[in-house]
Amino acid sequence: MMGDQAEHLRALMAHRQSAEPAPHRVLAIASGKGGVGKSNVCVNMALALQKAGQRPIVIDADVGFADVEVLLGVRPRKTIVDVAQGTSIFEALEYHSSGLAFLSAGNGLLNIQEFTSEQMEELVQQMQRLHEKFNVVLIDSGAGLTENVSRLLHAADELLLVTTPEPTSVADAYALLKMLVVRGSVPPVRLVVNRAKNFTEGRLTADKLCAVADRFLDLKVGVLGYVLDDAHVSMAVKRQEALLDSYPNSQAARCIEQLIRNLDQQEAVKPRGLAGFMERLFGRRGSKTDAGHSA
Ligand SMILES: Nc1ncnc2c1ncn2[C@@H]1O[C@H](COP(=O)(O)OP(=O)(O)O)[C@@H](O)[C@H]1O
Ligand SMILES: [Mg+2]
Repeated sequence: MMGDQAEHLRALMAHRQSAEPAPHRVLAIASGKGGVGKSNVCVNMALALQKAGQRPIVIDADVGFADVEVLLGVRPRKTIVDVAQGTSIFEALEYHSSGLAFLSAGNGLLNIQEFTSEQMEELVQQMQRLHEKFNVVLIDSGAGLTENVSRLLHAADELLLVTTPEPTSVADAYALLKMLVVRGSVPPVRLVVNRAKNFTEGRLTADKLCAVADRFLDLKVGVLGYVLDDAHVSMAVKRQEALLDSYPNSQAARCIEQLIRNLDQQEAVKPRGLAGFMERLFGRRGSKTDAGHSA
């Protein structure tokens, strides 16, 4: 009898171990300038991941400018602000008709930079629970770099930096990289050049940004890919439908599906999962000084 029970327990443990989900991948989508296509890239990448059989979730961290819900045409009942104030994250999730889960940023007056340290901690602790259901977390961060956005970006497994070919957008993307470097160690960064008129323009834009980051910041920046300028993006936005749903064969939709395929091409990024995310967010407090000069 006892032997049976022990056997059963062992079988259960073995099952639990094998059923342990693969580590999370936390991708933060960032940009220097606003309006470069961050939210569209984020939402449609998530939809593409879902179509490819992954279990993505979108966290809209552009608090106060809740674009993800507008793009998906869903009116949320709860937001990231509720989660930061203690509401269960699973209770606050909303679902697009495709089944894609997301957490809304909310349109309140509060901005993420006004979250207290405790609220940020609550939020990230709750985000840790997402591994029960999801394997890729895409964070749509706001433009620019406030303290709390910076904490989110530094804590991600990878940064996807969105820029257009316009010089202002490239300059602001560079400025964001510079601020990140100044504030601590930067996770691997890959560029997404959005609204390129052709792939050559996309490549030239990426080359330029990679070269200045390398030369002036000593930062190696990769390239995830290019999304062509395509009127279907705006047409989908106006219909409040996702591009991948309404125009799956458009050029931009195809480009975004290519981004998904490129995600795994560079095995440089070892996902450290949400536990790692927590550690990176909160474990480094007070130990930021001269990390490069130790030993
Ligand atoms: N690839 C593209 N081709 C054409 N227009 C685009 C493209 N990507 C974005 N846009 C336009 O830019 C607008 C802003 O995009 P959005 O994703 O909201 O930017 P952000 O999140 O960076 O502020 C969209 O509403 C759309 O009109
Ligand atoms: Mg946005």
